[in-house]
Amino acid sequence: MLMKRIGLFTSGGDAPGMNACIRSVVRTAHHHEVEVVGIMEGYCGMLKKQFKELQNIDVAGIINRGGTILRSSRCPEFREKENRKLAYNNLREAGIDGLVAIGGNGTFTGAYHFEQEFGMPTMGVPGTIDNDLYGTDYTIGFDTACNTAMTAIDAIRDTASSHNRLFIVEVMGRDAGFIAVNSCVASGGEAVMLPEDEQDLPQLMEYLDEKRKKKIFGSIVVVAEGDQVGGAIELDRIIKEKYPQYDTRVTILGHVQRGGIPTCLDRILASRLGMHATEALIRGEKNKAVGIINDEVVFNSFDDSIHHAKSIHPDLLKMSHILVS
Ligand code: F6P
Repeated sequence: MLMKRIGLFTSGGDAPGMNACIRSVVRTAHHHEVEVVGIMEGYCGMLKKQFKELQNIDVAGIINRGGTILRSSRCPEFREKENRKLAYNNLREAGIDGLVAIGGNGTFTGAYHFEQEFGMPTMGVPGTIDNDLYGTDYTIGFDTACNTAMTAIDAIRDTASSHNRLFIVEVMGRDAGFIAVNSCVASGGEAVMLPEDEQDLPQLMEYLDEKRKKKIFGSIVVVAEGDQVGGAIELDRIIKEKYPQYDTRVTILGHVQRGGIPTCLDRILASRLGMHATEALIRGEKNKAVGIINDEVVFNSFDDSIHHAKSIHPDLLKMSHILVS
């Protein structure tokens, strides 16, 4: 089908750099004389016909802004087939021939079913701070989130050393420890707790025991929110129970990691992915997610993207153990 008009939306957790991607999609489409309709609030906007024509001027001055001008949502209504039918009818009524979806695994899963059932051609762009998407080395927002976490941990280090305290810092990552391991290694944290590592708790306890014997109590443990132990508060309880000598403090970084000025890396990544997703859709590709592997643009089917897991590079896991004293 010749694309004349495409729909663009952001869905799931927002990520710094999404605006840079929106700008890139809009300007690439117009470069190829294709119109763009912004769909507000992700899949929910399709149900409520929240559509807005986007011109190049509408995306001026947003490359440097966190969040998403199209707003985002998690949309449980879209799990119902009858709602997906309504969304399809609304999109067709608005003259939309194809979609660019910016988001994470949930976004791609929705797009996969939507295309299978109603044949709406869709290209996905990986946007999530978690970096937990197969088929791309990095997702939009991950670098900014890691920098935010690293800067916060650097600040915590000052007070941890001054008071000889053990700080437990919780970072985001529901199912994956990419932010945790990167921010920990980058800020010189003493230990990291990851959803991917089932042996992390006994190892941490052994480490704390050794330090305790040497009377060294000032350390930083970075814990991913999705770690099996159950997050920073639960970890604090376990440590206090076993080693009451530690004066512990908990910091949960939370949604501060989701906002803020996108880094240069995220802006370039978002612009590049947005351009390639749009050009692929225009030339007739569909049901695929764009990614960058080893600095080359790649496309994976949504099926592959949503059914495979991405692993943390072993170097990061190794460094998180050997680069601590
Ligand atoms: O977008 C990913 C993420 O930030 C996860 O790291 C986190 O678990 C989740 O979203 C939080 O989602 P919400 O903002 O909907 O509570």
